[in-house]
Amino acid sequence: MDLLAVEGLRAGYKGLNVLWDVDLNVKKNTIVSVIGSNGSGKTTLLNAIMGFVEVNKGEIIFNGNKITHLKPQERVGLGIAYVPSERELFPEMTVEDNLMLGAYTPRARKHLRESLSQVYEFFPILSERRNQLAGTMSGGEQQMLAIGRALMSRPELLILDELSTGLAPAITLRIYRKLEGLSERMTVLLAEQNIHQAFMVSDYIYVMENGKIIASGSPDELSESSLIKSAYLGVKG
Ligand SMILES: Nc1ncnc2c1ncn2[C@@H]1O[C@H](COP(=O)(O)OP(=O)(O)OP(=O)(O)O)[C@@H](O)[C@H]1O
Ligand SMILES: [Mg+2]
Repeated sequence: MDLLAVEGLRAGYKGLNVLWDVDLNVKKNTIVSVIGSNGSGKTTLLNAIMGFVEVNKGEIIFNGNKITHLKPQERVGLGIAYVPSERELFPEMTVEDNLMLGAYTPRARKHLRESLSQVYEFFPILSERRNQLAGTMSGGEQQMLAIGRALMSRPELLILDELSTGLAPAITLRIYRKLEGLSERMTVLLAEQNIHQAFMVSDYIYVMENGKIIASGSPDELSESSLIKSAYLGVKG
């Protein structure tokens, strides 16, 4: 069964649609990427799945239940966590306090200690720096902290927007390799402009253009497509 299904979604801002009839399916324990150029609608799609953007038509189904009109915090309660591209950490608070804030749902609060040690095991640097102010961490460390905070809500589905933003390619790759390990116990949906890394870690990829899905497939299938080769992989002919 699909953990997440987006069906015929139209959504946007102030009554104007950015997304046009978007269909997307995410199977349990897979990594799925949405790629596309600037302004193609990737963030809008993730925001709609999270409940930050109004849906004008279509449905969003999580674990078999319609969540289209639930509030964002209700979706978090059901097991969806979001790492926005801005990361939205509290720079004047410690690493550990930032992590604790991720466990604000009743379900997550019950497992707070256990989650904290899991996150520290997953990203040892966060454990070493637990008393450091979040704002003084490096870009890569802050991204790990943002992911760690999302993990504190014990999500079934982890959604990440442009995790490579502002990071050196080597750091981005290290974080992606970590996410691969996660897919044994959770499902990951991510948006990326940096498609080479998305191709490396994803089980399935959707390509967005002008608010529509224009292609989808496994990385192998897509890298055979001449459209994708010329538009995204920089390969001519
Ligand atoms: N808050 C907003 N109000 C009005 N229009 C918006 C808003 N946010 C985004 N848009 C518009 O929606 C369209 C899609 O933007 P979106 O941010 O979803 O694209 P994206 O694929 O995430 O781009 P990027 O790769 O640059 O992050 C753009 O035309 C953008 O101007
Ligand atoms: Mg975006």
